[in-house]
Amino acid sequence: MWFDLIRLVLWLGGKPYPRMAENAERVMNQLEGKKTVLAVSGGIAAFKALGVLRLLKQQGADVYVVMTDHAAEFMKPASFAMHSGHPVSLDQFAPAHGWQMEHLALAQGTDLALVAPATANAIAKLATGIADDLFSTLFVALAQRVPTFLAPAMNPLMYGNAVVQAHLDTLRGRGVQIIAPRYGQLASTKEGEGVGRLAEPEEIVAEMLAYLQRVDA
Ligand SMILES: Cc1cc2nc3c(=O)[nH]c(=O)nc-3n(C[C@H](O)[C@H](O)[C@H](O)COP(=O)(O)O)c2cc1C
Repeated sequence: MWFDLIRLVLWLGGKPYPRMAENAERVMNQLEGKKTVLAVSGGIAAFKALGVLRLLKQQGADVYVVMTDHAAEFMKPASFAMHSGHPVSLDQFAPAHGWQMEHLALAQGTDLALVAPATANAIAKLATGIADDLFSTLFVALAQRVPTFLAPAMNPLMYGNAVVQAHLDTLRGRGVQIIAPRYGQLASTKEGEGVGRLAEPEEIVAEMLAYLQRVDA
């Protein structure tokens, strides 16, 4: 928990925070009342998903967070639960909704879905329809019936791998909106710079809003 908080404070470090507030003032409540699934998979950028959650909430979205088991290695679910106001969904077999299966309960009434960060593994599962945990089963159940966004984040060598690009093309072909990773300094300084860094939270939410405005028009 403390580790998560320290990482979040270091990341906020002055730069993105005022921009988030500035953007939020300019355009508010564009997602008013929309049930939004924010899925977090197990990459080093998982801490940034808290910023995404904050911005989605500022836009009025009712956000339900789903984490993979590996995401929970990077961030404590409690941080997301506190900010979303809902328990975090991790376990497909948790009896959270009585008789109803967790993935179907979550899918019901969902208006929007976002995976941020999306690992190479999460992308592969979504592209091929693997359903071996709550996260992947939920996305099979959603079946792109709602606007679906994916923000990949990984090492540039992984991002450049033809198999990752082929999976992203498959998902694009099914109407999934890919929020491209950015060029920049990677988590490990030894790796230097490259394309693979997760888009900033405000960039992710801005791309979502722009897309939703385009399709509404
Ligand atoms: C320290 C660390 C950082 C990682 N960062 C990433 C990452 O940024 N992107 C990625 O695709 N995989 C990353 N991985 C590998 C994933 O955690 C691994 O592929 C895992 O199986 C993903 O599971 P999930 O997609 O179910 O969350 C990282 C692993 C470790 C140990």
